[in-house]
Amino acid sequence: MNAPGTNIQETALALVADGKGILAADESNGTMDKRLEPVLDDPPNEDARRAWRELLFTTEGAGTHISGAILYDETIRQSTADGTLFPELLARQGIIPGIKVDTGAKPLAGSPEEKVTEGLDGLRDRIAEYHELGARFAKWRAVIAIVDELPSRNCIDVNAHALARYAALCQEGGLVPIVEPEVLTAGSHTLERSEEVTALTLRSVFSALADQGVALEAMLLKPNMVLAGSDCPEQASVEDVASRTLRCLGRVVPAAVPGIVFLSGGQSDEAATAHLRAMNQIGGQPWELSFSFGRALQATPLATWRGQEANAASAQAGYLQLAKSNGAARAGRFSPDNEREPVAVS
Ligand code: 13P
Repeated sequence: MNAPGTNIQETALALVADGKGILAADESNGTMDKRLEPVLDDPPNEDARRAWRELLFTTEGAGTHISGAILYDETIRQSTADGTLFPELLARQGIIPGIKVDTGAKPLAGSPEEKVTEGLDGLRDRIAEYHELGARFAKWRAVIAIVDELPSRNCIDVNAHALARYAALCQEGGLVPIVEPEVLTAGSHTLERSEEVTALTLRSVFSALADQGVALEAMLLKPNMVLAGSDCPEQASVEDVASRTLRCLGRVVPAAVPGIVFLSGGQSDEAATAHLRAMNQIGGQPWELSFSFGRALQATPLATWRGQEANAASAQAGYLQLAKSNGAARAGRFSPDNEREPVAVS
């Protein structure tokens, strides 16, 4: 295994510092437009995407609960309306800028129902450029769907191999890799099946990371929580999700990994926070248990904002509240003002 560079190891630890977690604001243009469309009067465009990110990144006090923000290629090059580049704005608040470097999940040759994430070609040079632009960590997301007898072994292994190639390149280029193998919640599978597929996937990922010499001390794992499929009639309790998820991770994830930063995966913000809180209440794990949420931090404030300047302050208050609640969940606690403030929307 490669010796981790001190800097990237320190960055990995800073990203999972007590009481803080990561904002995933790295939606591709297509995905961001899909989120903006239902709330805006006009069709979304580059400036609407920029304005939404500016609202998030200028939220005062967010740096108390947010350690890092993952950006998309377009976003890392954008600025506030008054001309401050986003990476600089974030860094001033003590929020570490990160960057999504995969180029998306594409149909897997020979098994087109499944996907393999692309983006390795030219990645060494892109990492160097992103580092220059201020990024200090990166993200690559693999998606594994559960449908009948799928995923195939091949789908799991090719995605694991690509995740490890990406992680090794990031560490070489001075970025902390967030390794994200997401087993999707969509479908009618049971909690048991989710645990089984998550374990198989993580075993393959850690085997590939070891084969390719990735320093575990200088990376973060971003997995799904173990949840029953969203269409499964039998949904698990918060306690069951927490204990299954920790059992699954405990069997597979080496203690050398400094932190696990969960994705929210389409859960409501309340559910994602409750699960994170319950896991931290169980405690006794070798890794920090934190968050790297997209929708669970953004969906509610986005619905408040609706593209209207008059709603910006309420939307920022909503985002800050969610960041605070998840920060408190890291210690197994409720935020003291956990009850959502009623927000005035014009
Ligand atoms: P969600 O929390 O909305 O799942 O997004 C996290 C993420 O970064 C997915 O890649």
